[in-house]
Amino acid sequence: MISIKNLHKYIGGRWVLKGLDLDIEDGEIFTILGGSGEGKSVFLKHILGLLKPDKGSIRIFGKEIVGIPSRELHKVQAQIGMMFQGGALFDSMTVGENIAFGMKRLTNYDKITIEKKVEDYLAMVGLAGTSGLLPEKLSIGMRRRVALARTIATQPKCILYDEPTTGLDPITRDVICNLFLDLQRELKATSIIVTHDLKTAYKISSRIGLLHKGKIRGISKTEDFINSTDPFVQQFINGSSEGPIRVKDGGEEKK
Ligand SMILES: Nc1ncnc2c1ncn2[C@@H]1O[C@H](COP(=O)(O)OP(=O)(O)OP(=O)(O)O)[C@@H](O)[C@H]1O
Ligand SMILES: [Mg+2]
Repeated sequence: MISIKNLHKYIGGRWVLKGLDLDIEDGEIFTILGGSGEGKSVFLKHILGLLKPDKGSIRIFGKEIVGIPSRELHKVQAQIGMMFQGGALFDSMTVGENIAFGMKRLTNYDKITIEKKVEDYLAMVGLAGTSGLLPEKLSIGMRRRVALARTIATQPKCILYDEPTTGLDPITRDVICNLFLDLQRELKATSIIVTHDLKTAYKISSRIGLLHKGKIRGISKTEDFINSTDPFVQQFINGSSEGPIRVKDGGEEKK
């Protein structure tokens, strides 16, 4: 479904991605863990085609997207959904307009169909009847649900989630994870999640890997990840300042 080989990206004065390899199978939920600034968001933006690598290959649905003309890229992008970090919504648009936004842009649905689908998706995330409200009227957990609804509304084959549960209290986080799993059962989309939250990763993933120093390490099934022998993975899981991961790692390397 998605195959990434030897991905390199120099950004912000250093090599953030440095030979990253990853293969993601159809229908799986793959979580990329990693500390702040390790390049998780940068990586997702490459899959979406918003950033171009300095080197390497990205194949999505069997098609190489590095170097393809923008019209071809748009066709691939139309099949990928992205929930941006913090579940950003357009504050000046109502909940309904936020959800309709992608459908207007990417589908041929008429106005009535879009209105009906907005209500359907709001019901799916437990927010029926809120389409006329502005996001500021909602709690952070509700806004995250709207962001989920907006992401799935175009029925993408592949969905990227950037920190879907960050900033939520533990109970709301669990509610969002359960909702995610319910939606996943229905949509059967291939999902890539980036997070630094272990609880989220353990609850929703089929496989997990750790992004560190530009590569994904310790890739394994969720149940095996906790027993990984990779010292970087063990340090991250244990949340220890002692170990091979240094907070300032990778800062000095020049292009
Ligand atoms: N557009 C940009 N221009 C310059 N540097 C950038 C840009 N985007 C990201 N970076 C740098 O790339 C590195 C990785 O950033 P990224 O946002 O991917 O980290 P992250 O793993 O998502 O962190 P967080 O957990 O805080 O969201 C950081 O050092 C950041 O400063
Ligand atoms: Mg990020």
